[in-house]
Amino acid sequence: MTVAPNIRIAPSILAADFASLGDAVRAVERGGADLLHVDVMDGRFVPSISIGLPVVEALERVATVPLDVHLMVVEPERHVEPFVAAGAAMVSVHLEASPHVHRTLSTIRGLGAAAGVAINPGTPAASLEAVADSVDYVVVMSVNPGAAGQPFIPRSESKVLQVRELLDRAGNRAPVEVDGGIGPVNAAPLVAAGAEILVAASSIFGTADPTLAARRLRDRALAGVTATEGA
Ligand code: DX5
Ligand code: ZN
Repeated sequence: MTVAPNIRIAPSILAADFASLGDAVRAVERGGADLLHVDVMDGRFVPSISIGLPVVEALERVATVPLDVHLMVVEPERHVEPFVAAGAAMVSVHLEASPHVHRTLSTIRGLGAAAGVAINPGTPAASLEAVADSVDYVVVMSVNPGAAGQPFIPRSESKVLQVRELLDRAGNRAPVEVDGGIGPVNAAPLVAAGAEILVAASSIFGTADPTLAARRLRDRALAGVTATEGA
């Protein structure tokens, strides 16, 4: 049985104007954003430091869509509880940062949030085998994590397909999220490959009209569903 994909757009506030975050959130929500992606970087798992709990708490007060928190931090198990308490509805941790990823996933789920595993461009899809039946979503990084505005790594598209197949083999309908270098041009092929959540920072907040950019990205992504159905 084929299950219709549930396409969701997740603007990442990493490229927004941090002096007016509330306006940024409202702008993409008007454009049909389904989630808000929040990139947390610790200066250790990735070179830069971005934002932390106080910003998530502030976003929680203004956002009407769920917060999807992407933890690019070492020892993520130490941080999941406070981030869920701050308002994260979804929390992803990196496989490369989590020696006890099963335990971390159950902790996240036990706190009432959706538990995701993110993999770097250099990490093969097959590394997810052990968590394929227990993960709520998988984040395929299509750039090396650490910054917005990097070019999409083309082979990520086939990795999305591999991860979708791996989850399907495990009988898990968990969505594949793809993160990095995404815009109107590659949205449809990524959805056709099996991505259901598309993260985008610069192609939305780097434009003069984030509302329009979010709406356009959504439209382009939905064109990928039609392509799949026509196949
Ligand atoms: C990268 C972050 C991404 C980033 C995407 O480390 O995980 O979420 O914000 O930025 P763009 O869409 O500009 O590649
Ligand atoms: Zn991210």
